Amino acid sequence: MKYDNIFTDELNRIHDANTYKYETSFSTPQAGEVNVNGKKVVMMASNNYLGMSNHSLVKKAAIEAIKEYGYGMASVRFLCGTQTIHLELEKKIAKFIGTEDAILFSSAFAANNAFFPSLLNEKLGSENYRDVIYTDGLNHASIIDGMRLCKPETSDRKIYKNNDIAQLEQLLEADKNTEYRFRIIATDGVFSMEGSYAHLAQLVELAKKYSAILFVDDCHAIGVVGKTGRGTPEKFGVLKNVDVLSGTLGKAIGGALGGYIGGSKKMVEYLRQKSRPYTFSNSLPPPIVMASIAAIDLLSKDRSIVQRLHDNTAYFRKGIAALGFRILEGDHPIVPVMLGEASVAQEMSKALLKAGVYVKGLWFPVVPKGEARLRVQISAALTKKNIDHALGAFETVGKKMKILP
Ligand SMILES: Cc1ncc(COP(=O)(O)O)c(C=O)c1O
Repeated sequence: MKYDNIFTDELNRIHDANTYKYETSFSTPQAGEVNVNGKKVVMMASNNYLGMSNHSLVKKAAIEAIKEYGYGMASVRFLCGTQTIHLELEKKIAKFIGTEDAILFSSAFAANNAFFPSLLNEKLGSENYRDVIYTDGLNHASIIDGMRLCKPETSDRKIYKNNDIAQLEQLLEADKNTEYRFRIIATDGVFSMEGSYAHLAQLVELAKKYSAILFVDDCHAIGVVGKTGRGTPEKFGVLKNVDVLSGTLGKAIGGALGGYIGGSKKMVEYLRQKSRPYTFSNSLPPPIVMASIAAIDLLSKDRSIVQRLHDNTAYFRKGIAALGFRILEGDHPIVPVMLGEASVAQEMSKALLKAGVYVKGLWFPVVPKGEARLRVQISAALTKKNIDHALGAFETVGKKMKILP
């Protein structure tokens, strides 16, 4: 193409910086073990937290859905893209996460892109209005992009340092007498590069004190966090106290695609009218809808799956720390193994793959310079033998690369 030289220059720059993102393809389902180039490797990099991507009941539901409800919807929701199963799934999600209602999107990315402009770009009967979003500095790209879609003429965006509740309170206090229409506090429930949690109980308090809407993206928490997998509100004892919860069906809950926003009945009804990714984009296909229903049913009935995830996580965290690797402390299945330079993370990822472990590196600009890491993600699909194999490979490669003594 005419401008390929521009792309080539940038691609060369990425290569030179050793930050090129390689895709390592495999030829088997997403599971505890996958097949890379004919060789079995342990999967330690997926969001398949509960092993539902290849669960027999989830797959059966998807197959049955195709037979009974067809393959695709060929429509947006309000034209002819709503089947009874879409309504059923929305009810189930709302019940599970403890909100009055929920609305489906094609992804959580779309949900987060939908939420902010749907509220902030609308006059709602008032010509003169101004809104403000207080956003955690480590929030996911989809929240950032959602905020970017809000008109700067009528909205302010104030970034507070990751989990710096004192700074957030200062910002809220300073704005106390400003006549804002909506005040929104937006945060990830789990910060996906760190495996750390938002301080949800304190955020709930602040939102109450300053009449702000608390928006929490619980993508890495739904099905994962809390005794029964209901997410960060369950873990921090604030179920039903978070105003808006967004989440994904593309990680623990089946791992295919789809997202949602849960909140009050009125807000969800409003989003059905106003949010552009809902109104102008296809509705979720039946196999995903039915498989997601099956996944939530499974999760609600069988508590041992979440327990297995938590046990596996504790086992790996203990083992990797005992080997001498520096990890970010915590209890989430995202376990960042800190390595420093991007090239080290890059090289270690390749060496681990050779040793039978699939794990990927993250580096600047995804994480700060000098904080490159391997992001291990634990799953209920892993056996103890899988985890032991991974720990063994980390030890061998770590010693070879002189990361371990
Ligand atoms: C915190 C967070 N929010 C949103 C998303 C987007 O989710 P989806 O894949 O459903 O678009 C992700 C996915 O990586 C995420 O980690």
